[in-house]
Amino acid sequence: MLAETLAGLKIKPDGRYLDATGGGGGHSAAILDKLSETGRLLVIDRDDDALAVLRERFGADARVIVHKLNFGAIGTDATVAGVAPFDGILFDFGVSSRQIDNPERGFSFMQPGPLDMRMDRSQGDSAAAVVNEYGEAALIRILREYGEEPRAKRIVQALVQARPVTTTEQLRAVVETVADPRERIKTLARVFQALRIEVNGEMGEIDHALDAAYELLASDGRLVALSYHSLEDRRVKKFLRRMEGENRDRYLALPGAETQVRMKAVPRKAVQPGQSEIDTNPRARSARLRIAIKQV
Ligand SMILES: C[S@@+](CC[C@H](N)C(=O)[O-])C[C@H]1O[C@@H](n2cnc3c(N)ncnc32)[C@H](O)[C@@H]1O
Repeated sequence: MLAETLAGLKIKPDGRYLDATGGGGGHSAAILDKLSETGRLLVIDRDDDALAVLRERFGADARVIVHKLNFGAIGTDATVAGVAPFDGILFDFGVSSRQIDNPERGFSFMQPGPLDMRMDRSQGDSAAAVVNEYGEAALIRILREYGEEPRAKRIVQALVQARPVTTTEQLRAVVETVADPRERIKTLARVFQALRIEVNGEMGEIDHALDAAYELLASDGRLVALSYHSLEDRRVKKFLRRMEGENRDRYLALPGAETQVRMKAVPRKAVQPGQSEIDTNPRARSARLRIAIKQV
């Protein structure tokens, strides 16, 4: 959905843009194609490998700043404040193919590697620490909430029995002992996704980032958020409903109810990929693009 994403940003040639999930730099490069000499692009990522790629790719471009940052912290960062207000902010949530394809990172159940899954390897607990140190109840909650995994309890009991679990192969083997054989791959995907979301605090970071993005946008600035699973998209949707003053009519009199239209979603519903895009890239099936314009 690159074309739709760029159309959503409606790039002004001399505008200021924040790519909050730089990754391999694909979106950043497309933004830069539309920027003039006076336009500015701040690209952030929390992953040092991604930052090395981004610096290599854009380091010589005077319009670009590449900066290591968790997007959950954009509201309190001096570099971000130095470039703001932005005419557009882009989020392309989740992990990059570069992260998934590197066995050393431990994101993939298809490749043997250490059970790490941290996007920023300089801090925080790895997936191995989560699996081996969290209590049973917490692990069940994680698999249910972030993986929507129906066999969460049985999987966690098997994991606790098998501790210590330190590699992707070990985790895979344990999950396979309790997964429905017809749902083997789906179960593995759900378990790995749930752990990744927990390890990286993904949902909380999205909530912080969206609130801060609103503050950092210029009036008429555009927020563009691309989600790859329903948990991410639900956060964005909920945020936009709040920004649109969802309770304006029904609860006008209630204290604390949102009454102001601070952002307007255009279109109101998420944009979904067309069939031809799904045919060429099955991973795009669950992609949802939301675009909103700051009103006040
Ligand atoms: C789907 S990829 C982005 C791909 C990118 N749009 C491109 O065109 O190559 C997501 C990227 O966001 C980064 N990321 C995820 N959560 C982040 C966070 N909380 N703060 C900063 N970067 C984050 C990941 O490290 C990854 O590189």
